Amino acid sequence: MLQNFYNSFELTQKVDFAMGFILVVSAFFYFLVVGLMIYFVFRYDKSRNEKASNIHGNIPLEVVWTVIPTILVMFFFYYGYDGFITGRTVPDDAMEVNVNAMMWQFSYEYDNGEIMSDLYVPVGKPVKLNIRSQDVIHSHYIPAFRLKTDAIPGMTTYQWFRADEEGEYDVLCAEYCGLRHAYMINKIKAVPEEEFNAVIYGGEPPVLAAAEGEGMQAQALSAPAKRTVDPVKAGERVYKINCASCHSIDGSRIVGPSFKGLYGKPHNVERDGSTYEVIADEEYLTRSIKQPNYEIVEGYPAAMGKQNVSEEDIKNVISYMKTLSE
Ligand code: CUA
Repeated sequence: MLQNFYNSFELTQKVDFAMGFILVVSAFFYFLVVGLMIYFVFRYDKSRNEKASNIHGNIPLEVVWTVIPTILVMFFFYYGYDGFITGRTVPDDAMEVNVNAMMWQFSYEYDNGEIMSDLYVPVGKPVKLNIRSQDVIHSHYIPAFRLKTDAIPGMTTYQWFRADEEGEYDVLCAEYCGLRHAYMINKIKAVPEEEFNAVIYGGEPPVLAAAEGEGMQAQALSAPAKRTVDPVKAGERVYKINCASCHSIDGSRIVGPSFKGLYGKPHNVERDGSTYEVIADEEYLTRSIKQPNYEIVEGYPAAMGKQNVSEEDIKNVISYMKTLSE
């Protein structure tokens, strides 16, 4: 936890300064006020002053203790506002990544369609995150960059940062969102640009970049689906992004049943108060993904929400599940 907590990102610097400044000023006045209070308790106690006397207004004193705090809070405002503007102003050269929040994981989608469960970024490059939620309110929290932005269904919010040092930075969900809220933990992995390109673009030039040259355009258009997709590999990706937070692949119980040995096997489900046996075949699994609460596996909670997956994703993830039952 708290790796690279102190870093050179502007917002980190500004938030820390504002925090330190307010803390020092507050501490100073705390000791001044409490110290004077204790001193006055003894200095003006009843044995020395039977009855309070000499109580008059003092205009200069009142002006001083009005003006000085006013100036101080103006400084508080200035440093807070300055940091706020930094956090809200995204540099023009920022790389954009879409963040999808769901119960109970974050996933990161890049401009070439690549989806990752860890946020890979190139070192030193500003990154803008467009944050969406497909179910309830989550909050994308990056302590190292002093960022916390809610993911709200039906709207897109954003935050930006720049990781100047290579390494890992923690990401957490900071809005209580249900059963496995505490497991919404991800990593930002700041790596050199070449490594970033290798991971996200797989060494192949992105289709859009290839289409820019005139000669290449026809080629890119004539072979748009050049990437051959292995259904099992694609299914494993779907699993990692959509299912892994609730379904294990090693037989252990998380929220729902494990996918290990599930395919093709019989198990009991409940529907409208009656219990019956089903075989976990393609038809059953497809229905379970599309209508998670149509039938509930006996002994498990009805905790699954609607998944944002295509027909092809469902086919692929079932192909992947088959490999877990061999
Ligand atoms: Cu998502 Cu808490």
